[in-house]
Amino acid sequence: MHAAAIVAAAGSGSRLGADLPKALVPLAGRPLVCRAVDALLDGGVAEVVVVVPPAQRAEFEAALPAGVVVVDGGATRTASVRAGLAAVGPAATAVLVHDAARPLTPPAVIARVLDALAAGAPAVVPVLPVVDTTVLVDADGLVTDTVPRAPLRRVQTPQGFDRATLEAAYAGLEADAELTDDAAVVRRAGVPVATVAGDDLCAKVTVAHDLTLAELVLRAGDA
Ligand code: CTP
Ligand code: MG
Repeated sequence: MHAAAIVAAAGSGSRLGADLPKALVPLAGRPLVCRAVDALLDGGVAEVVVVVPPAQRAEFEAALPAGVVVVDGGATRTASVRAGLAAVGPAATAVLVHDAARPLTPPAVIARVLDALAAGAPAVVPVLPVVDTTVLVDADGLVTDTVPRAPLRRVQTPQGFDRATLEAAYAGLEADAELTDDAAVVRRAGVPVATVAGDDLCAKVTVAHDLTLAELVLRAGDA
């Protein structure tokens, strides 16, 4: 199996509020996007396409390792992944889609996703259980129900796909569709999505607190 990875790095990071695109923000001196790419290559991916904000393309090219393909992203994550998919090389039979904002992703998670694809899954996502009590609220914020927690999962990346399956699903998706992940794109096309164990270290850097936590994890030697 020849696996390519698309790293979605074209967001601005409005919730993080840094003065540069989130993917270029350094974590212990190394940009988030570089850490995400390193993990994918360590985890067994053969080629990497990074999707970047067009205005900062030069900064990304300067930061990323040689051999990584850089393409311009779009206004939504869905549009960015679509652009990345068009740049995957001809040899790839499997495609992983990963967020640049998950800098501490362990290579073992990437290996689990690749193993599930090699075993024949057309689509696979890393997941974790929901640990908090989870409720529904009405428009006034009043709790209306408690959701049974046992079947709930939090979905992470990298998400893995048979290449032809992912390409067909994107080809059938409306041009302006906006979904929060790629498993939702293939599920919309009727493809079953398998799960493997995720990892707390795959956590996404969304707000400043997440970056603080990631720095502490690195300092403690846990990643
Ligand atoms: N992403 C992308 N193209 C977009 C929007 C998001 O490639 N148009 C990427 C981000 O760079 C990020 C990943 O998708 O690595 C997950 O998105 P998110 O965490 O929401 O990042 P941002 O959209 O950059 O952050 P925010 O929503 O706070 O602005
Ligand atoms: Mg976003």
